[in-house]
Amino acid sequence: MRSVSVIGVGQTKFDEHWELSLRDLIAEASIKAIQDANVGSKDLEAIFGGCMAAGRFIGQEHIGALMADQLGVNPLPAIRCEAACASGGVALRMAYLSIASGAYDVVAVGGVEKMTDVSTEDAAIALAGAGDQEWELFNGATFPSIYALMARRHMHDFGTTEEQMALCAVKNHANGAFNEYAQFRTPFTLEQVMNSGYVAEPLKLLDCSPISDGAASLILCTSEKAKQFTDKQVEIVASTQASDTLSLHDRKTMTGMYGTEVAAKKAYEQAKISPKDVNVLECHDCFTIAQIMALEDLGFCRKGEGGKFVESGGIDKDGEIPTNMSGGLKAVGHPVGASGVREAIDVVRQLRGDAPKETQVADAEIGMSHNVGGSGATVVLHVFKRRF
Ligand code: COA
Repeated sequence: MRSVSVIGVGQTKFDEHWELSLRDLIAEASIKAIQDANVGSKDLEAIFGGCMAAGRFIGQEHIGALMADQLGVNPLPAIRCEAACASGGVALRMAYLSIASGAYDVVAVGGVEKMTDVSTEDAAIALAGAGDQEWELFNGATFPSIYALMARRHMHDFGTTEEQMALCAVKNHANGAFNEYAQFRTPFTLEQVMNSGYVAEPLKLLDCSPISDGAASLILCTSEKAKQFTDKQVEIVASTQASDTLSLHDRKTMTGMYGTEVAAKKAYEQAKISPKDVNVLECHDCFTIAQIMALEDLGFCRKGEGGKFVESGGIDKDGEIPTNMSGGLKAVGHPVGASGVREAIDVVRQLRGDAPKETQVADAEIGMSHNVGGSGATVVLHVFKRRF
């Protein structure tokens, strides 16, 4: 397998973009990444695009071809990847594999979603299609309620508290305040999160990621050729993926994601590192309980101790594993097909030293992005290493 590096990143602000179409979002993010990578469109050989449900949200399918068309790079092959909220992570992994295998030298990765053209109710139903339609959605379970079940069980088994979950939101929103691309830039106090009203008990409004529009893009290149384009190359030293049952009731446990555990074990082996070597983490905090479970499943703290780990400062900028310095899905927003790519971008920014100074982790050399589809039926992990 050949070594692969990220040579360019670009994204739109994540927001409610009433004035922009899906096409506009794709174009803005991709052009920024192409410019950042210093490549010409003639250098690109393929496009891999993550998008979860454009058919449901705006009535548009065939997003791969749309991306190539919109970028004016026909007749390049363009492939849409769909894995619910992990669509972007899977697109990144497919692009990585296409270069590692020797098929291409330079490819573009995109992730996009335009969710706010429909009502919250319709968005919730579209998203719930990523769960088990027959066993979950048919019986009224949307994602806030599915994650609420996981939260309840975590509270029951390990004594995790609503305050500990709320603290994830407080910390992520505090970081997001410095991120110019974030949907929410207002910090919240613990009291505000605790009083924000239940969406699905014990999860409150401010425990949830929002409904968002946005796009994100990366340019990947063989590490050998990357030097032609940039002197700030970031190598992908591990790319792993795992699947689990679609429905929660079929799992051995509701208090963690087996897919994350499996993908993490493989990622640490591939990168020849242990959790202690990771300097910065972007994890998939679609709900605050998801962040607590991710910290445990990725091996940054012991099972059941995620809440205490957050409380004790483990995820802070100067903590054991600075986490979601961007603001995470919670504050940055969660345009579902784009989030996996955006998480990777924020890790790359940290390793390049390009994060806002208030949230930049000093001397970050190794970073990890963690992207989840549904309630854990798909998990994608990437480990990145600074190469300059
Ligand atoms: N975090 C912070 N603020 C939020 C927010 C969030 N997740 N969602 C909405 N807000 C804010 C809005 O900006 C608005 O503020 P304002 O009154 O100052 O303008 C207010 O809260 C109400 O927003 P509204 O859009 O009416 O909320 P809603 O009730 O329609 O939707 C949720 C709120 C939580 C139900 C919705 O965001 C949701 O379903 N989130 C989960 C998405 C999801 O499941 N993703 C997939 C994960 S697997």
